[in-house]
Amino acid sequence: MVNMKSPTIFFSLLIASFMGTGPAKVADPTSTIDGVSFETRARWMRLANQALSDISGSPCPFAAFGTVIINHTDSPVGKLICMGINESHKTGNPTLHADLGEIAAINNCTDILTDPQGDFRLTASEAQNAFSDLSVYTNAESCPMCASAIRWAGFREYIYGTSIAILTEKGWGQIQISSMEVFAASYDLPTQTGLIGNVLSNETDPYFLWQYNPAYPCPKGCSRRLTGSTLNPT
Ligand SMILES: *[C@@H]1O[C@H](CO)[C@@H](O)[C@H](O)[C@H]1NC(C)=O
Ligand SMILES: *[C@@H]1O[C@H](CO)[C@@H](O)[C@H](O)[C@H]1NC(C)=O
Ligand SMILES: *[C@@H]1O[C@H](CO)[C@@H](O)[C@H](O)[C@H]1NC(C)=O
Ligand SMILES: *[C@@H]1O[C@H](CO)[C@@H](O)[C@H](O)[C@H]1NC(C)=O
Ligand SMILES: [Zn+2]
Repeated sequence: MVNMKSPTIFFSLLIASFMGTGPAKVADPTSTIDGVSFETRARWMRLANQALSDISGSPCPFAAFGTVIINHTDSPVGKLICMGINESHKTGNPTLHADLGEIAAINNCTDILTDPQGDFRLTASEAQNAFSDLSVYTNAESCPMCASAIRWAGFREYIYGTSIAILTEKGWGQIQISSMEVFAASYDLPTQTGLIGNVLSNETDPYFLWQYNPAYPCPKGCSRRLTGSTLNPT
């Protein structure tokens, strides 16, 4: 499936494949989708990785889940609107759980879009509508809670790197419902959201491979000082 013309068509095809109208069709993550090239997607996915160390201040945060929200409707290259990482430890709010960059980013974007002194200065209802222009890039597939929030927000597109299958295999406890399943089950919502999985997973996977595997090399700039899986910046 290459060169999809619009998120609607892309999503309809996904739904069509769920409805059993043909063999499952999954976009090649390196193809140009909705007019956006793989190189551009890779750039934003790298920023989702980078957001982690930028916001947490550590090159090896344990829960390395990062999200950026981009406006691709301005131009295929896209513009950063906001980012988010795991913040449940700061706020005590479990809806900002470890694989929660997504909710944190949606909250952060809402604050940025409605900030009366900010660049956007949107009203609450304008901010809600704004999400239909935006694409959410997250370095790991969302849990069903966050995937549902992404659908309710009405994002234009949702792009993830590392899959729930890989997270599970590498020791991260997950709820075993894929984003594809959540999206397929959400056809009754008024909005549609394109889904592109496994984008740049060769670069997102390493963020999740060391935590439960003492033999896996530490991320750059980090070392294992104590026993167990916790790493420290060198
Ligand atoms: C993410 O969440 C976990 C669990 O709440 C916490 O231990 C960790 O410090 C948080 N932050 C980062 C950047 O990993
Ligand atoms: C996204 O870009 C479109 C096209 O320029 C613009 O109309 C819209 O206001 C932008 N959305 C946000 C949230 O910046
Ligand atoms: C919110 O997004 C902005 C813009 O990308 C970023 O500078 C800031 O660190 C983010 N804040 C939080 C709390 O994640
Ligand atoms: C990861 O794969 C993409 C193509 O899928 C490639 O462009 C990129 O250079 C690769 N990254 C590394 C670090 O090899
Ligand atoms: Zn989640």
